[in-house]
Amino acid sequence: MDHPAEPQFWEQRYVAGTIPWDLGGVPPRLTEFLATQPRDLRVLIPGCGGGHEVAVFHRAGHHVTAIDFAPAAVAQARTNLGPELGAHVVLGDFFAHPLADASFDLVYERTFFCAIPPRLRAAYIQRMTQLLKPDGALLGLFFLGDERDGPPYQLNASDHEALFAPRFLLANDEPVAQPFPLFGAKERWREYRLKR
Ligand SMILES: C[S@@+](CC[C@H](N)C(=O)[O-])C[C@H]1O[C@@H](n2cnc3c(N)ncnc32)[C@H](O)[C@@H]1O
Repeated sequence: MDHPAEPQFWEQRYVAGTIPWDLGGVPPRLTEFLATQPRDLRVLIPGCGGGHEVAVFHRAGHHVTAIDFAPAAVAQARTNLGPELGAHVVLGDFFAHPLADASFDLVYERTFFCAIPPRLRAAYIQRMTQLLKPDGALLGLFFLGDERDGPPYQLNASDHEALFAPRFLLANDEPVAQPFPLFGAKERWREYRLKR
């Protein structure tokens, strides 16, 4: 089915090489963030696509699991990363793949939340709170705005209040110095901390 909730939607784009969201590297803000962190965090990267961030988290001393449900995305990530780091990339559905509860210190977000249809947002929050440790963080780049069509689907203030705010504290919310052209000034770096 050609719908962003289905792997085929993304699969055909990776097979065709039509992946305008792919940065071909890592957002500079993530590199800055990692320089401030202790080592040995358990990190999840959902909807990892080409998986560029896996190597950066690994080099910074963290234990990374990346997951994507499109086989061509996973194949591309494994090619990009090579056999050793490629083994950190799992083929599976973020919402259903068996991952241990409360097992991640940090979930890294870039163009996954905006890739899922808004009807899956409550499930996204529920899954994040299930997978994160009690003091865990969900952080990365979010695409804000009031348009309802997508993908990319924008996060508006009312969904933030209704879905994120009850479970997460918005500890940091910054403009991005060099926003990705596809997202422009609507791209923000956010750090959500799980509420106790
Ligand atoms: C817009 S792409 C972003 C890829 C990557 N994060 C990046 O920044 O280049 C969205 C990715 O999310 C994946 N995806 C969407 N829904 C998913 C789900 N339920 N489980 C796992 N991956 C999913 C797609 O296959 C696609 O690779």
